[in-house]
This record gives sequence, structure tokens and C-alpha cells, in this order.
Amino acid sequence: MSNMLITGGAGFIGVNAADHFLGQGWEVTIFDNFSRKGTDINLAFLEGKYQSGLEVVRGDIRTDQDTLNFLCNDADVVLHLAAQVAVTTSVTDPREDFEINAFGTFNVLEAIRQSAAKPTLIYASTNKVYGGLESVGVDEGERRYSFADGLRGVTEDMLLDFHSPYGCSKGAADQYVRDYSRLYDMKTVVLRQSCIYGPHQMGIEDQGWVAWFMIATLFNRPVTIYGNGKQVRDLLYVDDLVAAYDSCIKNIDTISGQVFNMGGGSDNTLSLIEFLDFLKNDLQMNVEYSFGGVRPGDQPIFVSDNSKFMQATGWSPKFDTTKGIANLLEWLKENQGDLQQFYS
Ligand SMILES: NC(=O)c1ccc[n+]([C@@H]2O[C@H](COP(=O)([O-])OP(=O)(O)OC[C@H]3O[C@@H](n4cnc5c(N)ncnc54)[C@H](O)[C@@H]3O)[C@@H](O)[C@H]2O)c1
Repeated sequence: MSNMLITGGAGFIGVNAADHFLGQGWEVTIFDNFSRKGTDINLAFLEGKYQSGLEVVRGDIRTDQDTLNFLCNDADVVLHLAAQVAVTTSVTDPREDFEINAFGTFNVLEAIRQSAAKPTLIYASTNKVYGGLESVGVDEGERRYSFADGLRGVTEDMLLDFHSPYGCSKGAADQYVRDYSRLYDMKTVVLRQSCIYGPHQMGIEDQGWVAWFMIATLFNRPVTIYGNGKQVRDLLYVDDLVAAYDSCIKNIDTISGQVFNMGGGSDNTLSLIEFLDFLKNDLQMNVEYSFGGVRPGDQPIFVSDNSKFMQATGWSPKFDTTKGIANLLEWLKENQGDLQQFYS
């Protein structure tokens, strides 16, 4: 039996990870301050599904150092997901963003460094560490941007260029995790995640756009497209991300200390306009939308080149966007009653 600590385990990615690892027989401890709306729904789901193996600790990564020390001492793996996750919120309250994402991650690192057990740390970083990708040539097509010069995706040697307080706080944490691995011989992996989507994602206008567009349609809420809607994102279904976490653990002896880009890759890309078309034509969902100004630091196109991680671990994404989006819609419809409190 192995023990996993998941910070932010009651959030979207956390609940999916907890579900997976509990199903594999792990003992899972969720550490979360339940600040994100919908975390109670996620917790009720896990508690209904698993009668044993799950422990829940309410706490804050900014302030509860003693609890983190205690929990890290007891863990084999720490999956660090707790974060302030919206770029827009980071701009209006950069101090809170820094305290949660940078200082909170520092607290988790210190807890592991000082533990006897020295658990493996997997850190959920972000493609935002590459900033606006101004150095990359981009062509503008009718419905989407594409990379110029035949580039298929962004690799890990792209220049780091933190934009927005969120980019800075997550990027600082990303570099701290790398350096703690070098300095203190800790077992770590940093995954720079692209857009993740799937069941349990209670997206809002500021974060989780795939789920948000669908939720807005179900609850008759209007959507604002910031920019011209030709922005392209690679989408990774959450089960594929969780499978990647699993691969990190299994391959930790060979990949420790490394950083990997982690997204849907060039086979799973959509522009916002293409996604709206897909919702309309394939799922008969008519999104009511209007256009707003471009958001600062918004990348015209981001596609992850996953080849480094694929070669290192043998992992590859299994869900295409058609299947993944259908699964998300099914979950949203099944849970529409519970979601009503947040969206109607
Ligand atoms: N979802 C994505 O597309 C995406 C993309 C790139 C990176 N990430 C990263 O993945 C991680 C998980 O993202 P998510 O989409 O599941 O977000 P989420 O908001 O659903 O989950 C974050 C969780 O952290 C908790 N939390 C926030 N502040 C906390 C604090 N101070 N102490 C303890 N818990 C706290 C929240 O209550 C929530 O349950 C984050 O680190 C995020 O930056 C997500």
C-alpha cells in the first residue's frame, strides 16, 4: 500500500487524480482549503464512491506548515495541485496569487525537504511560463492561427518568459521545484500543462473555458470571446493527464529532476471559433457570444510538443477531443442540478 498526498485534491484535476489512485489501491490524503466553488460536490463524489482509503484535511498551503510537514512525512508521493488558477484574478490580486502559488509551493517543498520520507513530488506547472511566444512566427487563417515555419509544437527549450502574476508565481514555483531537486536531491517532476478539460471541471469565465462554454449554454449565460476567437489551444483530457502522473511515478528513477510539456499535442487542437462551431454542429449547443478585447499575454497559439515525455515514459494521450468533450457534456448534464447553485 502506498500513500499519496494531493494538495488541491478537491479541485477539478485533484478529484480525478484521487479517483484514479484510490481505484488503484492507494491511500489518498486530500489537503485543500475548499476555496474553489464546487469542491464540496467533488468531495461528496469521492466519499460516496470510496468507503476506505480516503482522508481529507482542510488546510491552507500558505499557513499550515506544521500540517504539511506532518502529511509529507507520511507520504510516498505528493501531487501538488493547490493553486490560485485564474490569470485575471492574479492581475486584480497579485499578492494573494503570489502567496498561494509561489510561497505555498515553497512551503510544500520545505515540508518535503525536512521530511524523513522524502516523497516524490509532482508539480502541476503551466504552459503560461512561455509567455506570449512573441518570438514564434504565427500565420492568421480564416478560423484559426497556425505556427509559421512548420513548427508542430512548443518544446521545453523554448525561452521562459513569465507574463502576468499567475505566470510569474507558477513559473517561480516551477523553477523552485527544479532547483530543490538539484540542491537537495529530491525526486521531482514538473509538468507544464496546457488546457486540461473533463468531468468535474466547473469552469468559469476566467478559467476552464472548454467547460465554461458548455456550462454557459446549459444555463443560458452569454459568453465573451476575448480577441478574435482564432486563438488555438491544445486540449488534454483529464484522464490522460492522470495517466501521465501515474507514468511519472512509475518512471521516477529515470525522469527525476526534469521538466516536461504536457498537453493534447498537435492532434488535439481547436480554436475558440472551431470549438463554438463544434458545439453548434455536432452537439446542437448554441452558444450566445460576443467579442471583447484581447487579454494581456494571451498566446495566439499554443500547442505542446509532448515528445520528450512520450519518449521518456511511453505515455501518449488516448482521448481525442470528440470523445473527451462528449464525456464532459455527459457529466455536466448528469450534474446540472447540483451545478445550478453556481451558474443560474
Ligand atoms: N486546469 C487546467 O487547464 C490547468 C492548466 C495548467 C495548469 N494547471 C494547474 O493544475 C493545478 C490544478 O488545477 P485545477 O484546474 O484542478 O484547479 P482547481 O481550482 O479546480 O483546483 C485547485 C484546488 O486548490 C485549492 N486551493 C486553492 N488555494 C488553496 C490554498 N491556499 N490552500 C489549499 N488549497 C487551495 C482549491 O480549493 C481547489 O480545490 C493548478 O496548480 C493549476 O495551476 C491547470
